[in-house]
Amino acid sequence: MSEFVEPPRTNSATHCTPEQYEALYRRSLEQPDAFWLEQAQRLDWFTPPTLGGEWSYDPVFIEWFGDGTLNLCHNAVDRHLADKGDSTALIFEPDDPSGETRSLTYRELHGEVVRMANALKALGVARGDRVTLYMPMIVEGVTAMLACARIGAVHSVVFGGFSPEALAGRIVDCESRFVITADGGMRGGRPVALKSNVDAALAHEGVAVDGVLVVRHTGAETAMQAPRDRWLHELASDADCLCEEMRAEDPLFILYTSGSTGKPKGVLHTTGGYGVWTAATFHYVFDYQPGEVFWCTADIGWVTGHSYVVYGPLLNGAAQVIFEGVPNYPDHGRFWDVVDKHSVAILYTAPTAIRALMREGDAHVTSRDRSSLRLLGTVGEPINPEAWRWYFEVVGEKRCPVVDTWWQTETGGAMITTLPGAHAMKPGSAGKPFFGIRPQLLDAEGEVLSGAAAGNLAITHSWPGQARTVYGDHDRFVQTYFSTYMGRYFTGDGCRRDEDGYYWITGRVDDVINVSGHRMGTAEIESALVLHDSVAEAAVVGCPHDIKGQGIYCYVTLYADREGSDALAEELRQHVRKEIGPIATPDHIQFTDGLPKTRSGKIMRRILRKIAENEFGALGDTSTLADPSLVERLVEGRRNR
Ligand code: WTA
Repeated sequence: MSEFVEPPRTNSATHCTPEQYEALYRRSLEQPDAFWLEQAQRLDWFTPPTLGGEWSYDPVFIEWFGDGTLNLCHNAVDRHLADKGDSTALIFEPDDPSGETRSLTYRELHGEVVRMANALKALGVARGDRVTLYMPMIVEGVTAMLACARIGAVHSVVFGGFSPEALAGRIVDCESRFVITADGGMRGGRPVALKSNVDAALAHEGVAVDGVLVVRHTGAETAMQAPRDRWLHELASDADCLCEEMRAEDPLFILYTSGSTGKPKGVLHTTGGYGVWTAATFHYVFDYQPGEVFWCTADIGWVTGHSYVVYGPLLNGAAQVIFEGVPNYPDHGRFWDVVDKHSVAILYTAPTAIRALMREGDAHVTSRDRSSLRLLGTVGEPINPEAWRWYFEVVGEKRCPVVDTWWQTETGGAMITTLPGAHAMKPGSAGKPFFGIRPQLLDAEGEVLSGAAAGNLAITHSWPGQARTVYGDHDRFVQTYFSTYMGRYFTGDGCRRDEDGYYWITGRVDDVINVSGHRMGTAEIESALVLHDSVAEAAVVGCPHDIKGQGIYCYVTLYADREGSDALAEELRQHVRKEIGPIATPDHIQFTDGLPKTRSGKIMRRILRKIAENEFGALGDTSTLADPSLVERLVEGRRNR
């Protein structure tokens, strides 16, 4: 499992050598403030910071570059105009391959961002306001985020695949008074009804906004409600719109993510530290060379889209593809068609996409040229060595190093990853810590494990890209991340460190599951299930899934007068889809007459997980169960599926 794959030579001039990595890493630990103040020079500041990190994990208090002021839209767009005004910034590739590609230079991007920012101001958005985005993967998704940053508004992007219910909850939670959306989107040849979902969300009781800015994209017929709804093209103007001077610790965005309990948390990132982190990690991890085309396939609705579609690449003045579509439309060669069409050099995608494409056979890949590819990256979930090898050998023809980047919504950007040139690779291992990152493995009792070991992954020292709080609920931030192991940030992931100091993420150790690289809280799915009037109780766990990594396995008990059936199972699946969104659609529903509980009433999830995994021999101690015979019935039910 632990053999090295020597990285192919990349024809890059700036990659980090092993010696440089060691020296920089050592310096980043020994002199963190000096190191990060130096990295901060990757950005333009109105007032350059003199302070590095001022933080404590007990009590929890995190600031970076506290006395600096800057604007990230200026850094992502305006400051490139002098020397990159005519260079490509964005290349839009539509869902339909015969549709119109749209390419924008940095100057054109600047024009679009200013128009969007002026429209937001005309709508009444002011500095500090939260603005919810519910967008397809189009240029305006990017310009809307940058326009918010420009005027000092805080964006909260909600993935366009979430339901009106989920959208409504996120609008209310961050007290957002504005929404930016589009008439519709296209994915895999099918329309996505964004504006009508916004209308449905806003029809919920207690959801009220002052304005909805609508981008014309598909041309679908769209109901506009006056005076609330306004078209972007009617409100936009080319008037000057200056970049607000923001303090480093002013909020930049809120992004909702699932945790092990309760409703999704609004993870809050601030301006200076996040900007430095995404700029620096993009530079070192992807080793971007001027003139190259970068392509991150993530949607802007996820953190990967924030950090490596919007901020990281644009802060570095890169050219990149914005892809509206999906990997398997119109056929399984679409990724490689896009790579060839736009001469993509760096491709960053998720293991679930790699596995899905691998299953379709090599011919879809080998029939395309791909000679432009120089570097491959993966993110979002552990990559199994078979998929890694296929990515490296078939897609990259062993020419391209693979960077497996471990990180989280809460970390802002890559934390553990091999760096091209600096590290030999191990298929399935994320590799070594990025600069400034001190990972620590602990056992359940809080003992620190040294050397080669497996345990729970924590980080002992703050880094600039770290989330600062959960919007409106700082206690929850402290509870969730800093109470498991006092004085440390707890990631929620299990991890092994091998004899070479490489880290192998084994997956979540909490009640979060990772479905196709998307984080889902099992508690959220349970809450959705019990909203159905047949469901008395539900427990949701992950189960192995060839393509998705993990599937969603639901144990459901019904009210006494209801009977489980295939039809009801399908109804429940549709019900969850409607409540949360298609990504939360259950894979399995097992009806049961009870859930395994301790005598004090606590559901024993360990047992449910094992049964869902078909690991009937490893159920452990079941003697503390209130009804031990239930386990046999559950196993029987699983066997019969
Ligand atoms: C998992 C996505 C293994 C992990 C950027 C983490 C990974 C969760 C990797 C965060 C990787 C992400 N190898 N596991 N390279 N990258 N994960 O917040 O369990 O959507 O805690 O951020 O994804 O998911 P999130």
